[in-house]
Amino acid sequence: MLIAGNWKMNKTPSETAEFCTLLKSRVGGLAGSVDISVFPPYTSLPAAVGALADTEVAVGAQNVHWEPEGPFTGEVSAPMLRELGVYAAIVGHSERRQYFGETDETAGRRAAAALEAGLFVIACVGELEAEREAGETEHVLRRQVSVLFEDDRLVIAYEPIWAIGTGKTATPDQVRKGHEFIKSLLDVPVLYGGSVTPGNCTDLLILDAVDGALVGGASLDLDTFTAICELAASRS
Ligand code: PGA
Repeated sequence: MLIAGNWKMNKTPSETAEFCTLLKSRVGGLAGSVDISVFPPYTSLPAAVGALADTEVAVGAQNVHWEPEGPFTGEVSAPMLRELGVYAAIVGHSERRQYFGETDETAGRRAAAALEAGLFVIACVGELEAEREAGETEHVLRRQVSVLFEDDRLVIAYEPIWAIGTGKTATPDQVRKGHEFIKSLLDVPVLYGGSVTPGNCTDLLILDAVDGALVGGASLDLDTFTAICELAASRS
């Protein structure tokens, strides 16, 4: 079971150091029952890696470029992340797709390069509300997953876009169907993401097809993130 905290554009380096130092003492006893990772903004990665250095909590980046270096203003490569002690990267998050022109093709290239460089990857997929209403969920998921290839270090996060940051969690039945469909395409662990809280995670983490959660808003608060990690540990 994996619980990953996607911080998005939140927490400065000093806020990160403080949060991670407290997180370390709060979740130290859960090691072995649940894998925990945090994904701070690039500028806070060194602070997170430093504060969590001697713990089981892993640190990942929210994106990664497919080239190791070159004229790609604003991008960061897998070797750069590896040198910092970063362990994983998220690719294809719906906010990257929605606001920054990420496509299936670029998400696939990012995933392949990151895996090749030795990073773990959480590749995000998920349908829009209109796509779900039009009965296109499986078609969209198939298209998004088609750019990914099975790998021991690849994890997929199923994040229905209508559930992200909206407080509208998918029902256990919708989650089970989405996860089972993704697993029929690619045999990798699948996390659920979209308005996960301590209040709703138990019903989702109990499902066989759910291998953990990608938590956004609720990962920014120490008490709620710790509570989700504890609930996941008790389900493992
Ligand atoms: P949320 O975000 O938990 O705030 O809905 C999840 C995500 O975007 O990964």
